[in-house]
Amino acid sequence: MSTLTNKFDYVSSTKRGSYWMPFTANRRLKEQPEERTLVSAEGPYYYKADGTKLFDTLSGLWCSPLGHAHPRVAEALHKQAMKLDYAPSFQLTNPQTVHLADRIANLAPASLEHVFFANSGSEAVDTALKIALGFHRLRGEGQRFRMIGRERGYHGVGFGGLSVGGIVPNRKMFAAGMMPGVDHLRHTHDLKYMAFSRGEPSWGCEIAEDLERLVALHDAGTIAAVIVEPVQGSTGVIVPPVGYLKKLREICTKHEILLIFDEVITGFGRMGEAFGAQRFGVKPDMITFAKAVTNGIIPMGGVIVTDEIYNTFMTGPENAIEFAHGYTYSGHPMATAVAHVVLDIMEEESLFARVRGLEPVLEEAMHSLRDLSIVTDIRNIGLTAAVDMAAAKGGVGERGLQVFERGLKAGLLLRCTGDTISFGPPFISTPSQLQDMVETVRGLIQSVV
Ligand SMILES: Cc1ncc(COP(=O)(O)O)c(C=O)c1O
Repeated sequence: MSTLTNKFDYVSSTKRGSYWMPFTANRRLKEQPEERTLVSAEGPYYYKADGTKLFDTLSGLWCSPLGHAHPRVAEALHKQAMKLDYAPSFQLTNPQTVHLADRIANLAPASLEHVFFANSGSEAVDTALKIALGFHRLRGEGQRFRMIGRERGYHGVGFGGLSVGGIVPNRKMFAAGMMPGVDHLRHTHDLKYMAFSRGEPSWGCEIAEDLERLVALHDAGTIAAVIVEPVQGSTGVIVPPVGYLKKLREICTKHEILLIFDEVITGFGRMGEAFGAQRFGVKPDMITFAKAVTNGIIPMGGVIVTDEIYNTFMTGPENAIEFAHGYTYSGHPMATAVAHVVLDIMEEESLFARVRGLEPVLEEAMHSLRDLSIVTDIRNIGLTAAVDMAAAKGGVGERGLQVFERGLKAGLLLRCTGDTISFGPPFISTPSQLQDMVETVRGLIQSVV
């Protein structure tokens, strides 16, 4: 089939709508399918069919810090496919998955020693919530069933993650299916006190006291777990105030509530450390991860839990299944093979240190946009940043969509939610690529004033 025929088929098929696209304005996309089509990727760039080269400002969807088309990953995939392409993980195991669990546990803070594999962030979160319920039940505290999430939090789209999540448009259609007994902490973003903060805002630690309010309301004895992203990513990089996460930890410990860090975005180097837990000096009871662990090449997620949690499950008859949970693709050998190579590359190329080196470059460049009249806030930490634009007369999201669409012509693949532009460039980016990215963003924002 010629390229032309492919192209023709592709456009008409897209318009037909057989493919119902996720988190997409399907009808809008169908008006301009070619504009929105990526056909290849290499290093920190995507390419469209017309050859336009786009800098990958969000590492895919926060998941490809090594960039794309890495030959070592391709080789590992091929080798694994020829050796053990799939293996059931119920009542069976395989060497590279066991080894990967060891490696991930070694990267996590001390005592977080056990890894349960899933296939996505959503599955990781639902798994963690189930572990929290099971843990308390096994301790004879089955009445602890409540989960506390946070406003503006994103924990995926399973019913568990959705229930503890706090992004309103994601929730409202499914209100009838939410888990019972879930409440939410206040979010920490307050422009009055923290606009244009660099790194952790100095104001806002006391917002963690909101957890005491919920404990007083519900009684600690009914609360199983608190789940937060150390940095709220999907809502637009809300950075925790100095001391906020430590305070949450203290309150959870005081009331024997489990603290879950959802590190699906912050895990594996994005904060310049293996996990946000290390960056912020706070040890949670569980860490959920996904995305960067396989550089986004093959789905994988998981939960890292403490010895205490694991050992609580390892009781009862020795021939009984201790945790009636798992996925057909948990610990998939193809995914674990990729994860090994990704961790090798991260280690060999000292990529966490590279993130620490790039952080001030990104910070300096992003905050240079402060002079633009419609920019209302700029935030950054690790290799993440966000810029808020004031809403246009046409409503919230109009400017964001325009910037996104114009970015596709100007050489940037941008992530805009509402009027916020979020950034999480690949770790392999160079300082000048980051500076160029911000200069292009300057022009795009100016074009929508
Ligand atoms: C913090 C967090 N948790 C969970 C998820 C859901 O991950 P997935 O889309 O792999 O299910 C995401 C996705 O962006 C996330 O950022």
